[in-house]
Amino acid sequence: MQGASGIRIHIIMSNYELYQYKGCNFISNIYTIEHLEKVQSFEIRHSDVVAVTYPKSGTVWMQQILSLIFCDGDPAAIQSKSPIERVPWIEIPFLNFLSNPTPRLAVTHLPYHLIPEDLKKKNGKVIYVIRNPKDVVVSLYHFQNYLTILSTPSSFEDFLREFLEGKVIFSSWFDHIHEWYTHKDEFNILFITYEEMKQDLRTSVQKICDFLGKKLDDEKLDTVVKYCTFTNMKMNPVTKTGTIENKSASRAFFRKGIIGDWKNHFTVAQSEMFDGIFQERMKDIPLKFIWDSK
Ligand code: A3P
Repeated sequence: MQGASGIRIHIIMSNYELYQYKGCNFISNIYTIEHLEKVQSFEIRHSDVVAVTYPKSGTVWMQQILSLIFCDGDPAAIQSKSPIERVPWIEIPFLNFLSNPTPRLAVTHLPYHLIPEDLKKKNGKVIYVIRNPKDVVVSLYHFQNYLTILSTPSSFEDFLREFLEGKVIFSSWFDHIHEWYTHKDEFNILFITYEEMKQDLRTSVQKICDFLGKKLDDEKLDTVVKYCTFTNMKMNPVTKTGTIENKSASRAFFRKGIIGDWKNHFTVAQSEMFDGIFQERMKDIPLKFIWDSK
């Protein structure tokens, strides 16, 4: 079905729908085709840093890490602005990434083929955060149960099928990572996993600093780590993104923040089916994943 804003997938809520633009699923009234077209010709500066994530892979976490690194670990410098203001999504029209002061920090869920062409000329730096897709699907399932504008899944089983078919926001996890990884040589890019950040946040922050050419002494590094822990971000009024309209006060954006919650949701059969698809779809991606899939 072709609508004014692209191909409609299905109605989510009365004023929102999932539509497809150039093969990627977006939520209407938040993402506009007009803006998505503009993004592709955004001028990217050498000093820009863009973190790329598939949804539910640790985007807000990376927003917090990047903004703290760039204010030299001074928590006072970031307390007056939410992560989304400090490190906006480039694909959300009203966030004005372009007018932020240098060095501009940004995040995006966009697939490779929709990002600014300038970024592909090794202008700016890219950090791609990967998370075990089994934990991503669980997190996204709960997010859909939480966020008002997204439809509540009828069951985890149905939602898992939709995820595997790419009928979710930002389409297929497999396509996202595949496309980005295949084109990695066009970027100054660092791949990092949610799991390594979770297992050793300090070493991960150091790795990100090294990539960005930022030097923080031990004390500053410790402060960055302190303000980026799950507990701190969940309790911190500035990071807990309370402004998102949600379906129930008993749910939270900062849900569990752990590795392996998929084991509490997948049946053995679902896990084996997922592993089979993963092995097939990822066989030519030589990234080392550190998560435990069994
Ligand atoms: P869960 O739903 O598994 O708890 P995104 O920001 O891309 O939407 O990702 C959200 C996921 O990252 C949620 O996962 C959230 O709890 C988790 N998360 C956010 N901040 C975190 C942190 N500091 N440490 C660990 N996980 C974090």
